Amino acid sequence: MADQHVDVTLDHSFDGIQEYDNRLPNWWLFTLYGAVVFSVGYWLFYHTFGVGFTQDESYNHEVEVAAQEQLQREMGKEVTAESLLLMTKVTAQTDAGAKIFQQKCVQCHGPQAAGDIGPNLTDDFWIHGPEPLQIYNTVMNGVQDKGMQAWKDQLGPVRVRQVVSFVLTRKGLNVAGKAPQGKSIAEWDKENAALKAAEPKPADAGTPAPKSGG
Ligand code: HEC
Repeated sequence: MADQHVDVTLDHSFDGIQEYDNRLPNWWLFTLYGAVVFSVGYWLFYHTFGVGFTQDESYNHEVEVAAQEQLQREMGKEVTAESLLLMTKVTAQTDAGAKIFQQKCVQCHGPQAAGDIGPNLTDDFWIHGPEPLQIYNTVMNGVQDKGMQAWKDQLGPVRVRQVVSFVLTRKGLNVAGKAPQGKSIAEWDKENAALKAAEPKPADAGTPAPKSGG
């Protein structure tokens, strides 16, 4: 095995250029075989068994961890549209919400939230408003005379937030189910914008209006 290295040449030549037919060096072959073995392991680790996170997964995981941390800070505070939307990004929260929905809401809103006795929550029509806080208020306070109970006492505010975050993940999926009830989201948007415009503005808000005709 010592270096009695003799170059072997193929017996063709192109314009006097000849080609070696040497054995591939072992170090080269090892990198090739190593890469093959590595790729099999890689595939099993990331794709078949899903033990490791792929780039997408670890990105999503980081987003979720950040959302979870921010949420922890928000939970103690007053509920906001932002905190509800943030919850929709945290699977632990929407999963908890889905469970509550399966226990408490399916009998009237159906397993897909597409409606039954209660309205379809996946369509673009809402009786009491499509905004996260409007949905939250409907679930907290109910609509007593229409058969939708107030859930604030039975579930408490945290679990209501969770179930609302789940409803928000269903919203807009337009699952075929109960016929639309209430006003379209476009109508609600107009109405909500008008309400917002009528709100008194905080004193320090905004920049001075630009002078016209200057
Ligand atoms: C006993 C039946 C019943 C149960 C249980 C029930 N709902 Fe309802 N829900 C209704 C009815 C009926 C309405 C429509 C009220 C109306 O007409 O004003 C409604 C309305 C709603 C709305 C407002 C929809 C809109 O168009 O504005 C939301 C959101 C909602 N329910 C969520 C839930 C959630 C979440 C749960 C479980 C925690 C739940 N409901 C449990 C019957 C029910």
